[in-house]
This record gives sequence, C-alpha cells and structure tokens, in this order.
Amino acid sequence: MGALEQLKERYKWIYAFQSAESLLQWDLETQMPPKAGEYRAYILGKISGFVFSQLVSDEMGKLIEEAEKEAKSEEDKALLRFARIDYDKYKKIPPELWEKFSIETAKAQRAWEEAKEKSDFSVFAPHLSKVLDIVIEMAERLGYEENRYDALLDFFEPGMTTKKLNELIPSLREFLVGAVSKIEKVADVEDVFKKWHFDVEKQRELSKKVLRVMGYDFGAGRMDVSAHPFTTTIGPKDVRVTTRFDVHDLKYSFFSTVHEGGHALYEQGIPDEWRGLPIGDGASMAIHESQSRFWENVIGRSRSFWEFFKPHLEEIFPQFKDVNVDDLWKSANIVERSLIRTEADEVTYNLHIMLRFELEEALVNRKLNVEELPKVWNEKMGEYLGVVPEKDSEGVLQDVHWAHGTFGYFPSYMLGNLYSAQIYFAMRKDLDVDELVRNGQFEKILGWLREKIHSRARTLLPGELIEQVTGEQLDSKYFVNYIKEKYSRIYGVEL
Ligand code: CO
Repeated sequence: MGALEQLKERYKWIYAFQSAESLLQWDLETQMPPKAGEYRAYILGKISGFVFSQLVSDEMGKLIEEAEKEAKSEEDKALLRFARIDYDKYKKIPPELWEKFSIETAKAQRAWEEAKEKSDFSVFAPHLSKVLDIVIEMAERLGYEENRYDALLDFFEPGMTTKKLNELIPSLREFLVGAVSKIEKVADVEDVFKKWHFDVEKQRELSKKVLRVMGYDFGAGRMDVSAHPFTTTIGPKDVRVTTRFDVHDLKYSFFSTVHEGGHALYEQGIPDEWRGLPIGDGASMAIHESQSRFWENVIGRSRSFWEFFKPHLEEIFPQFKDVNVDDLWKSANIVERSLIRTEADEVTYNLHIMLRFELEEALVNRKLNVEELPKVWNEKMGEYLGVVPEKDSEGVLQDVHWAHGTFGYFPSYMLGNLYSAQIYFAMRKDLDVDELVRNGQFEKILGWLREKIHSRARTLLPGELIEQVTGEQLDSKYFVNYIKEKYSRIYGVEL
C-alpha cells in the first residue's frame, strides 16, 4: 500500500474516534443524566487528547510528506493541501499549551456561568485574562504577517484578515445604522408568532415538517431538544439537529430549526467517501453559517416562503387561518434595537458582530484591558445600536465564546450573512428563486447548493469557493442590496 492510501486509512481510523466523541457530545447535550457530567467530561477529554496526539504525530507528518509525492488527481491534491495546512498549524502549538488552554477555558466557562448568573463581570475577569494570555501565546506561535488577530481569524476563516474586515465594515455599519433609524420610524408590527400559546408537541411536528420540506433526510438524521440548538455530524448518513421550544414564541423554535436545517443540509451534501479526510468537511465556519443563514433568512423569512408554507402552518396551528401572509412575513422580519446578539434580526445582527470584532482585536493586541471591557462594550452598544445594557449579563457577559477562548470566531457570523446574500444573487442568475419557493420546489434550490457548494466540501479555501460560486470575491454590496430590496418592500421606505 502506498503512502497516500495509508494516510487515508489513518485519517478514517482517527475519524472513528472523532465520531464516538461527537456522539458522546451529542448525548451530553440531549440525553445525559445531569449527574453524569463529570465522568463524561473525563471521557471526552481522553478521546480528544488521543485524537489530537494522533493528528500531530511525527508518523502522520512523515505519511503526509510521502503522500504529497504520490498525489496526482485533483481530489488527492486537495486532500494533501488541507492535510498540510492542518498539520502545520496544529504542530505549531505544543501539547502543553493545548492542555493549559483546555484546563483554563473549562475553568473560565464555569466562572462565566457564575458571573452571568450574578451579572458580575469581576467574577469572570481574572479567568478571561488568563485565557487571553494563552490565546495571545498561541497567536504568536501560529504566526501572522500584519496583525496578531489574523492568526486567530485564520483558524476559523482561512485567508481572512483584519485589514480586509476593516475595509468592509465602515460603510456597512453606516448603512445598517441608518437603515435601523429609517425602519423604526415607520415600523409598527404585531408579532403574530407570539400571539398564542403554542403546544410543544405541535411545535415539534411543525419543526419536523419544515425540515422535510427543505429536503433534510430523516433516514440519515434526527431532531432532538437541547438548551442551545446545534447541528452535529456523527459520521456518514448521521447528521443530527437540535432545537428548543418556547410556548410563548413560535418564531424561536421555527427559525432555529430552519437555521440548523441549513447547516444539516450542507453536512448531508458532503460526499460520504470523504468523511474523516481533511476535505470531508465544510469549507469554513463562515461558509457553514452562510448555508444556515440562507435557509433561515433568505428563504425562511421571505414572503414567498410564507405564501407556500401558510397552509402547512394552519394544519398544525389552525389559529393562523385568520392571519394573512403579509402579517406572517412582517412578523418574521421585525427590526429592533436589541441587547442580545442571538435574538437580533437581520438588519441589526451584523452591528453586534462588528462591536465584538473591534473589542477582540483590541484585546488580542493589548490595546484594551480586560477590566475596561464592560465600559467600552456599553459605549459601543450606545453608538451602534442605540441601546445600553443595564446589566453585564445582558452586555459583555452574554456570549460564552471568550470563555471558550475562541477569539476570532465572531466575524464568521457576519461573513456568513454576507456570503449568504452574495450566493443568493448568484443563484438568481440561474433560478427563479422566488417562484420556486412559492411553489415549494426546494429540491431545485438545494440541488444548486449541492452542486456548487456542498459537494465541493473542503476542497477549496473559503475565498476560492466563493469566487467559483459567485464569480467574484466577497463583496458586502450584495448584503446591502438584499436588505434594501427586502426591507423597502416590507416597510415602504427608501433605504
Ligand atoms: Co449557525
């Protein structure tokens, strides 16, 4: 057996352990008895430590080097390209530093939970400082050209830089801040999704229905409940989603489900035979998020979707018989100045991200002290969103990301939104998207995404993929045009 074949076998062998890890993690969040947490954390730590040691072993390095000489096909060349990228990246971090990182982030998460509960930033601050020190050391070891933050950004969105974000953000921010002001002057919408008490079993039925409509394969997946909705791939033919129900807010479970469904469709479209290999994954966090946002916002919050879906909704919740399509559509698109990122609408969402990006970048470059964080957070909230949190639990303590040490992750959400709009405009050149949605012909839309994005998995860098799919590099004008087109129609104002 040649080195290339040996390498593929080795990846698949390691992937078996990763599958077990994913299943245990899924179980932890959906089924596990609460008292089993400590032992579960122990098992997960053992498996992930083992997997990591295998991925960065010297033997693995030698196999990659040998296999590089053998790769002939485009597929194998892509495989080796990403094998090399991953190996070199992880190899730069010494195992002791990874271990320190996992210990300190676990402590930080517990401190964050307590701090959020008490709304007391000082409980979290010392832990955040420690995590930040480790993250900075990692960034230094990973290396960068211009900005230390780039080393972290590159982890989640390879090829993205602080400079590129700083070119993108100011005009987008100006547009969004202006759009919110114009919309709030005319907006007066009653949220019909909060009008009644919605039975949980019926909501479950509705969530399953919409997943089926989108093309999610329940023969190769399932839907469960967890505190925070997520999607996980256990392995080939096993891509699971979770959702969460609120009896007073139908929108919450519905759009969470559609969002996770978008992630799951991407995962179900990745070729089975690539699973476990470096190419058998999504192209990046932001490309993944583009798929979930596309289904959640571009499709799920469109007027044509509600034209199509209203009869299905009424079958399960007959009270909607008296509600017209426009009210459903408007209720799905209420724009509000809100404090909480995860509850933000499409127009304000990116403003929440810009704020986090600026703070992260400043922290990582030591331009901002951890102690100053709540104050600067509140100032920026006032400036960008026009609302200031009264409690840190609704401000700087709302997200877990920094406790996890995932600095550089937040921009993926914004990039996902921007990509989703750019992909939408490219799709419209090939398909009458509105008409297809109105008729419930989602297989054509999914087919397009499968061909252009899902089936390519991680054979390209995200920037390369978006250029192949849309014919150009990332450009925020598509998102701006998408917002203008949609919200001018909803609210009858020029944006
Ligand atoms: Co998502």
